[in-house]
Amino acid sequence: MRIGFFDSGIGGLTVLHQALRFLPHEDYLFYADTLHVPYGEKTKDEVRAYILDAADFIAGQKVKALVIACNTATSIVIEELRTRYDFPVIGIEPAVKPAIERWAGKQKKVLVLATNLTLKEKKYNDLIQRIDQGESVDSLALPGLVQFAENFEFDEEKVVPYLEKELSRFDLKQYGTVVLGCTHFPYFENSLRRVFPKEVDFISGSIGTAKHLRRILELKNQMDQGTGDIIFFKSGVKVEDPLLLANYHSLFEVLDKLS
Ligand code: SIN
Repeated sequence: MRIGFFDSGIGGLTVLHQALRFLPHEDYLFYADTLHVPYGEKTKDEVRAYILDAADFIAGQKVKALVIACNTATSIVIEELRTRYDFPVIGIEPAVKPAIERWAGKQKKVLVLATNLTLKEKKYNDLIQRIDQGESVDSLALPGLVQFAENFEFDEEKVVPYLEKELSRFDLKQYGTVVLGCTHFPYFENSLRRVFPKEVDFISGSIGTAKHLRRILELKNQMDQGTGDIIFFKSGVKVEDPLLLANYHSLFEVLDKLS
């Protein structure tokens, strides 16, 4: 059986990219809700309805696990999805905890980049309250990066000025780690590196999510002997257009060059 991956758009491919590394002998179904992207600028109720629709569709395709490869979606419905289906549902959270631990007592702060909705949600704010006693975490929403990614615009000459403008009110020297708290953001690591001081490191939750998925399949004895085959859906419609499929696959090459 395939493993389902879900995102509002192409951000989830940054998580699937890691799953292909850690679980190369599985087959996958990737669902992008491109009709409704971006989620991060919508209301919680709207987004919840879109996700339940999409997740029901994916469940109907008979998957053995579902990865919610979208920070915004995870922060809104992950618990609800876990009670809705009888297969494991795995989410992705901003990797704030390891980032804070890395700099404990070292006078560096952590900057979390995510969507507006993720940063507003209870799940994120509870996490920060629980783990950030020293007010060492700042945050910023970067909806423009979601838009750039969805338009397949990765040109650093376009992205860097946007980042410089959005980050202009921050003293970037105070940060030790930048948390990429939206699965669309890892595509822009090179542009981000041009804006932040060179000692700053970047962390996302995608490796942790892929390892967690592998652990669950191992525990349930559900590892397969697949070929890494992927079928793609855009808001319920199977993607057959060879050009679009080639574009999706080319994103793995973009990510290969970063890692
Ligand atoms: C978005 O649709 O706004 C991005 C979703 C996410 O990965 O958090």
